Parts: sequence; structure tokens; C-alpha cells
Amino acid sequence: MKIFITRVLPPAGLAMLERAGVQVTQWTERRGLSHDELVAHCQQYDALLLASDNTIDRAFLEQCRHLKVISLLSVGYDKVDIAAANELGIPVTNTPGVLSAATADTAFLLMLASSRKAFFQHKRIIRGEWGFSEPTANLGIALEGKTLGIWGLGSIGYVMAQRCVQAFGMKVIYHNRGRNEAAEKELGAQWVSFEELLAQSDVLSVHTALTPETAGRFNMTAFSQMKPSAIFVNAARGAIHHEGDLIAAIQQGIIWGAGLDVTNPEPMQPDNPLLEMPTVAVLPHIGSATAETRNAMSEMAAQNIIASMKGEPLPNQVTS
Ligand code: DGY
Repeated sequence: MKIFITRVLPPAGLAMLERAGVQVTQWTERRGLSHDELVAHCQQYDALLLASDNTIDRAFLEQCRHLKVISLLSVGYDKVDIAAANELGIPVTNTPGVLSAATADTAFLLMLASSRKAFFQHKRIIRGEWGFSEPTANLGIALEGKTLGIWGLGSIGYVMAQRCVQAFGMKVIYHNRGRNEAAEKELGAQWVSFEELLAQSDVLSVHTALTPETAGRFNMTAFSQMKPSAIFVNAARGAIHHEGDLIAAIQQGIIWGAGLDVTNPEPMQPDNPLLEMPTVAVLPHIGSATAETRNAMSEMAAQNIIASMKGEPLPNQVTS
């Protein structure tokens, strides 16, 4: 099997593919491939390992219907038109589970950074502003005993809740379509309506997938129902929040601040006002970026390719 990888793959997955006798070509240029370039490249390969943010839409799938599998190096699959892939008989796989802890850690970091204005303080030092200190200045918000609201309590949300309970004794409330019995039993998490989640959370952390139902859900209507002291955290997908409304909500004191690993759009432009706000912490979509996690993801993506090559059931096929 000949496969094309849209970036350089972490070494563990690469070694696994090579051991299995898969012929690998990696895109090594320091620029992304356009949609048309990706279509052109894929003509020469049996499978695609997508390690970039290219959109796999119906037009792409129709031109690449020979692909035996599209293996994503991500848990999220919102960039792929799954209905069209199913219709055209192209299996799509993802990498669930292995990145939950790293992504939750990123959300945890952002929560703390916003609560203590950490990124802003770092910038103050760089600007030479670490001068006169006063007991009433540079104050943050304590997290001990506060209420964590999770929107989307799946495996990443679970780890975030676990960290917050263990570190700060936080009370956990959540909103999901279904109930998470493990979280209710082990973490004392309590299911609440979306409106209650907004009203009661001191930290509201988003861990849901991007779908037509979740897109743009955190807009001014939602922010206006939150506490003025609330921290909004998004380590899921930028399109779930409305960035203009988030800027206005923080500027007007409707909420305290935000921690974002994902932005809308990505990449965030350097002149975005969020970057200068003391109570905001932004990271460039690095939720799963630890060496351990990226290696584990690459092995999982490789296993999906190898299973396809051997005609075995795909371990992590996405169906809807
Ligand atoms: C994921 O795995 O979905 C990460 O957000 C990378 O896109």
C-alpha cells in the first residue's frame, strides 16, 4: 500500500508503518497543501493520512474515490464530510482516547492562566513593567471550591473535571445530550440544563464536538447569561464561540476572561484584541501536543492504515 501523509508524522507511527511494509510519502515542505494540490497528490496513492487542517469535502472525495482509507491524526472529524465519505464508500478513521489527558491539561492550564492573568503578567515582564508592586494590583480569581461547568462531558471533559476536583475541590456541573454516569458517580458531577450551566459556572469549559448544533452557540446571548466573574475555556473548536461577541463580553465586563486553545478563525491574527486582554490566555491549537500523545496518535493512525491494508476491520472508523 502506498500512502500520502500531509505532514511529517511522529516517529512511533512512522516506524509502525514502515515495519508493516507500507510505502510512505510525507509532505515535508513548510507550507500547507491547497485543496487542489492535495487532490493531485492523492491520485498517486492508495490511502491518505491527514495530519493537517485540510477540508475533506464532497468535491475532494468525489475526485479521490479510489482511496481505501482516510486516516485522521485527530479525534475531531468536523473537517470531513462524513456523509459523503459514507456514500462514496471511503472509510474515515480518527484517534479517540489517547489525546484526552493532554487536551484536558491544556484546558486546565488555560483556566489557571486566565484566572491569574498569567500570560499578561509574562508580557509585562518582557515589556519592562515589573516595577512598583502593590497589594491591590495584579489580582486574580481563586479557583478553590468554585463551580466548573463542562459542556460536552466525554472523555476529554471527564479528565478536565477530574483534574479540577482533585486540584481545587471544584463542584462539577455539566450539560450533555446524554448522562455521564461515571462522572456522576466518581466525581459527583451533576447534569444541568444549558441555561443553568451558563448561570452557575465559575469556569465554563467547552469539550463538545463541532456540529451544526454547537457552532456559534457561545455568542452574546450565552455570554450575557454567565456570571461577570466567569472564565470561558474552549479547547474544542473555535467555531463553537463567536469571537466578536467574546471580545465584547470581556471588554464590557459581562464575563471575566477566557482561555482559548482554539480560535475563530485559525490562525488568530496578531492584532486580535483578545491577545492584549489581561484575563485572556490564548494558545495556537496545541491541545494534544506532547511528544507522548502525538506518538500515541500516530500509532493509532498507522494501525488504521495497516488494518485497511490487511483487509481487517478498522479499529477507529467514524460512521456519523
Ligand atoms: C483533534 O484531535 O481533534 C485536535 O483538536 C487536533 O485537531
